[in-house]
Amino acid sequence: MDNIRIVGGRRLEGVVPISGAKNAALPILCASLLAEGEHRFRNVPELQDIKTLCELLNHLDQEAVFENGEVRVLGRPVSDPTAPYELVKKMRASVLVLGPLVARYGRAVVSLPGGCAIGARPIDQHLKGLELMGAEIELAHGYVRVEVPRGRLQAAEIVFDIPTVTGTENLMCAAALAEGRTTLVNAAREPEVEELARVLNKMGANVFGAGTDVIVIDGVESLHPVDHAIMPDRIEAGTYMVAAAMTAGNVLVEGVQLEHLEALSAKLRAAGVDVEREGSGVRIVREGPLRAVDVTTAPHPGFPTDMQAQFMVLMCFAEGQSRITETIFENRFMHVPELNRMGAQIDVHGRTATVTGVRALQGANVMATDLRASASLIIAGLVADGETEVRRVYHLDRGYEHIERKLAGLGARIERIRGKL
Ligand code: EPZ
Repeated sequence: MDNIRIVGGRRLEGVVPISGAKNAALPILCASLLAEGEHRFRNVPELQDIKTLCELLNHLDQEAVFENGEVRVLGRPVSDPTAPYELVKKMRASVLVLGPLVARYGRAVVSLPGGCAIGARPIDQHLKGLELMGAEIELAHGYVRVEVPRGRLQAAEIVFDIPTVTGTENLMCAAALAEGRTTLVNAAREPEVEELARVLNKMGANVFGAGTDVIVIDGVESLHPVDHAIMPDRIEAGTYMVAAAMTAGNVLVEGVQLEHLEALSAKLRAAGVDVEREGSGVRIVREGPLRAVDVTTAPHPGFPTDMQAQFMVLMCFAEGQSRITETIFENRFMHVPELNRMGAQIDVHGRTATVTGVRALQGANVMATDLRASASLIIAGLVADGETEVRRVYHLDRGYEHIERKLAGLGARIERIRGKL
């Protein structure tokens, strides 16, 4: 397992390019199961999760190849619509093959994704929607078996109990080939949901209202393959925006769509950071002291849970106390003990972490636990006194393409230490 070593103290300066969005690429690659023929996906980030998904698609008789930032998928009939535990356990987003498989084949068997470090991550809303569309669901031996007795899903009105990103994405795909008009109410409004709708419509689907909380899908008989360039990753971009602010730097984050990061930008400005659109990117400058700012995560367009850990680190340097409340996942404060070992002062009570600003953090050996917590430890290392070594960076490699190269390109003293294993 690799580690990443950082020597703190450098201001970040320069331009950082943003890669394609992981959380857009994953549902879009799964949607390729809806149509046979040659799909071409460009601007795909080189991440472990993408490679894992290509493995799963190939297990499902497709020909998916990742090469030079592109994934080409030769869509072919699936002989056995089963996603096995060995593959699903590596990446819970594999559950996104469920909607496409049931839509095309009227059946699927998918290993239950199970929880992960940040929470139980149930899929009850995904399954409720499929049932309303005429599927029969059986949960047994760690698998979910879905069967459509009539052979083809029927339109339905589905009201989500809570907004779910992959739940919305799974059911958009299911409805694309269903008979009639399906309506998703209380749908997730994330930009990645909108991106999936764009791709489905390019494939011949009729999806309306993506990006709002009511999405309407008029099912069609069949879809055709697609050529699409994946949108930039707003969470990767937000991570570099926070890193620039943390180091009192001056950085142009290239290729990010500011309208997808309004909640984060507003909180950064409230904390005393300049955030300005510049060309096709965003310029981040911080010269004065940081002000303490309270944050509560919420579904889009609220403050993204995937930026909570990164913003918490920034508040470690703010003057005063800030309260960070996590409302989406039940266990997303695992970065706190590691940050406190670096000299941060963070107290957790239930879903709220109270951060008291400190003047300095000390470099230390720290452990990554989940994707975004790992990013927050890297950001802490950029400003800590001395050397920080982040272990188990495979968590980081799931969501950040070449992070040490990109940070070194901004002047950070950072290197990857190849593990023995
Ligand atoms: C997506 O996960 C993202 N992953 C997550 O990003 C992100 O943190 C999350 O949305 C929230 O924005 C991908 O898009 C691949 P949810 P998802 O369903 O879809 C509960 C990262 O860091 N829920 O919107 O799994 C659930 O427990 C990852 O890139 C149910 O109760 O999240 C959670 O509390 C981490 N029943 C809340 O809803 C369900 O059927 C939101 O979850 C589904 C969800």
